[in-house]
Amino acid sequence: MSILSGKKIVAGICGGIAAYKAASIVSKLAQAGAPVTVIMTRAACEFVTPMTFESLSHHRVLTDLWAEPLAHVELAYNADLFVLMPATYNIVGKLAHGIADDLLTTTLAATRAPVLVIPSMESQMYTNPIFQENKKKLQELGYRFLEPETGRLASGREGIGRFPSEEKVLKAIEDILAERALLKGHRVLVTAGPTREMLDPMRCITNKSSGKMGYALAEQARDLGADSVCLITGPTQLEPPAGVECVRVESAQEMRDTVLERFAQCDLILMAAAVADWRPKRASAQKLKKSGARALTLVLEKTPDILSELGRRKKQAQILVGFAAETEKLLEHAREKLKEKNLDLVVANDITAPGAGPEVETNIVTLLYRDGRSETLPCLPKREVAREVLRRVAECWKQPAQKI
Ligand code: CTP
Repeated sequence: MSILSGKKIVAGICGGIAAYKAASIVSKLAQAGAPVTVIMTRAACEFVTPMTFESLSHHRVLTDLWAEPLAHVELAYNADLFVLMPATYNIVGKLAHGIADDLLTTTLAATRAPVLVIPSMESQMYTNPIFQENKKKLQELGYRFLEPETGRLASGREGIGRFPSEEKVLKAIEDILAERALLKGHRVLVTAGPTREMLDPMRCITNKSSGKMGYALAEQARDLGADSVCLITGPTQLEPPAGVECVRVESAQEMRDTVLERFAQCDLILMAAAVADWRPKRASAQKLKKSGARALTLVLEKTPDILSELGRRKKQAQILVGFAAETEKLLEHAREKLKEKNLDLVVANDITAPGAGPEVETNIVTLLYRDGRSETLPCLPKREVAREVLRRVAECWKQPAQKI
C-alpha cells in the first residue's frame, strides 16, 4: 500500500501558470488513495477553473474564506500535509510576514502540519533578494521547499524557476509523509541547555550553552512521529516546542535525578545538555561577602556524569547518543567518549569553527558510530542537524538485529 493512502493532503493552488501541472499531481495523489482538499487563491482561478480540480480530486474545491468561516480550522487541524503548488512570490511573501487575507493563507496560519512549498516563477523574481530572504525565513521556521528547475520559463526565457517534474514532486511528498512516521513506536528523552551549580543564593558556575541543539532535537523527534518526547532542560531563554513534555532543572544533580526517573521508559536518549563537570564542594546559604579578602579559593568537586551512568544501565533496545563539544582533537576526544561512556553514537562539533558552537543558529557536526565509521555533515541549521541525527538513529531501527 502506498504511503499516500489515507493521508489527508491539502493542496494550495496559487496564481501561476504551473497551476495546470498541479492539476495532474492532485490527480495522482487522489488515485493513490490520498483524500486531497484543494484550496485555490483568487489568482489561481484565473489560470485553471475550480471545476478541473474538483473533477480530479473528487472533492469540493474551496476558494472563499467567507463562504465557510470554519473550514480553515478543520482543514488546518486535520491535515497530514500542505502542498503549495505553484507557490508564487506573493504567497511566500505573505507567509513570511504573517499575512492571512484569504482562505489559503488563513488555513496555513492555523496549521501545525508540515508545509511543502514548491515555488515556480520567472527567474528574476525567484532570485530577487526579497524572495530569497522570505524563503530563508520560512525554512528556518520549518517550512520545506522543493527547488525549482532551470530551463525554459513561461516567458520563453531560460532560467531558474520552472516547476519541478511530477516525479520529483510526488517523491518529495512521499518523503515528508514517510518521515512523519520515522520514530513511531519510540519514546524519546532529550536533555538540553547548561546546568547551574550554585556558589551562593546569587552566584553560580554555568556555561555558554544556549539549549538550541537540544530543543531542535526535541522538536524534530516530535515531528518525526515519536510516541512521546520528554525534554529535560537547564535554564535557557527558549520556548519549549509544543507537544513536548518539558521538565526544567538547574543543577547537574537535579538533571541526573530527573533523567533517571524517566530513563527506563525511553528507548532513545539524546544527551545534548552541556552538563557542568564541576560544582562548588560547599554552596553558601548566604551571599558570599568580599569584606576585605584579597582572593577567594573555590574548592570544586565532580558532578555526577549522567551519560556514563546511563551507559552502564543501558539495555540492548536503548540507543544512547552523546555530544562532544571540543576545541581541539575533535575526533580523538569524541571517540574516547563513545567508548568510555558506552554510547551508540556521538555527535561531535568543534565549537571554535565558524558556523558551529553555542551561540549560532547553525552547526557543523561529525557523527561517530560504534563500528568506527564517522560522517561529517555540512554546515546546517540546528533543526536540520537534529533531523539528520534522528534519521540516522531511525535507520538502525529498520534493522532490529543491528545497533548503530
Ligand atoms: N555529560 C553528562 N554528565 C556530565 C557531563 C557531561 O551526562 N556531568 C554528557 C553531556 O551531556 C554530553 C557528554 O557527556 O553528552 C559530554 O561528554 P564529557 O566527556 O563530559 O564532555 P565535557 O563535559 O565537554 O568534558 P571534558 O572536559 O571531559 O571534555
